[in-house]
Amino acid sequence: MSENHPLIPIRKAVIPAAGFGTRMFPATKAIKKEFFPIVDRQGRAKPVILEIVEEAIAAGIEEIGIIVQERDRALFESFFHKPPYTELDAKLKPQHQEYDQYLLELGQKVTLITQDKANGFGYAVYCAKDWVNHEPFLLLLGDHIYTSFIDKNCVSQLLSVYQHLGISTIGMRVSPAHEIHHYGCIVGQWQAMDAVLGITEIYEKPTIEYAQQNLRVRGMGHNEFLSVFGLYILTPAIFDCLSHNISQNQREDNEFQLTSCLEQVRQTEGMMGYLVKGRCFDVGLPDVYRQTMIDFRQV
Ligand code: G1P
Repeated sequence: MSENHPLIPIRKAVIPAAGFGTRMFPATKAIKKEFFPIVDRQGRAKPVILEIVEEAIAAGIEEIGIIVQERDRALFESFFHKPPYTELDAKLKPQHQEYDQYLLELGQKVTLITQDKANGFGYAVYCAKDWVNHEPFLLLLGDHIYTSFIDKNCVSQLLSVYQHLGISTIGMRVSPAHEIHHYGCIVGQWQAMDAVLGITEIYEKPTIEYAQQNLRVRGMGHNEFLSVFGLYILTPAIFDCLSHNISQNQREDNEFQLTSCLEQVRQTEGMMGYLVKGRCFDVGLPDVYRQTMIDFRQV
């Protein structure tokens, strides 16, 4: 970056949490998937959404916008902005009361943004446009949690790479062929082997056949592909594209998708991938959630 154009630091993070969690039905009939419990490295039981918020705040993010359905607002409000109800509060051990104080302080950094229609992932991100207000921002998913293999947490790693590169950067991981129909897949040329990739295409949920013919990346095993890790640093250009698709009612599978807009921003501004030194747990899938309960604390 030229000294005349210093990078705007990333201050805001957006977490879409307005999905229905259909893959976790019927559990999601009783509880939002963002509130499924996990056990963290300290042995504390906490909802998934808290782990995600803490990861972002620990990396220096100052404000978090969570996109929620109107009907779930009270639930998120009560978790992030209110003390426990009186009878529970009275029974909490001192260390839990202390933790709740910290929770309320953390909650001051959380803004709830309503998604008015269930119109897909791209539409959810678009709902944060006014709150983000023309800054580059971090996008996390409401059902992905992370552990890092190095001292820096996964969000910090991505922020550092963005500070260095200065363009939209997507966290990546290696996925086996049989899983890629769940994920956005990424192709490109390594600029730093096994770390930074100049992206040449992002393709949403490919079949194995398509991936084997079109999504191979140098140095990867025969049955391995690069897929989305669930962390993105994006410039506000993403909102222009989403806004265009929404105003033109350009849907894919009846929804407004993020991936086609990522691909468009890549074509106009360029986009990098960073192979995160860490592990991502997609707790929106039953078997991954089960494994997360076992592995998350130990990794
Ligand atoms: C979304 C994205 C996809 C990404 C995935 C991660 O899909 O569109 O690119 O890999 O999240 O879970 P969804 O899970 O909303 O179908």
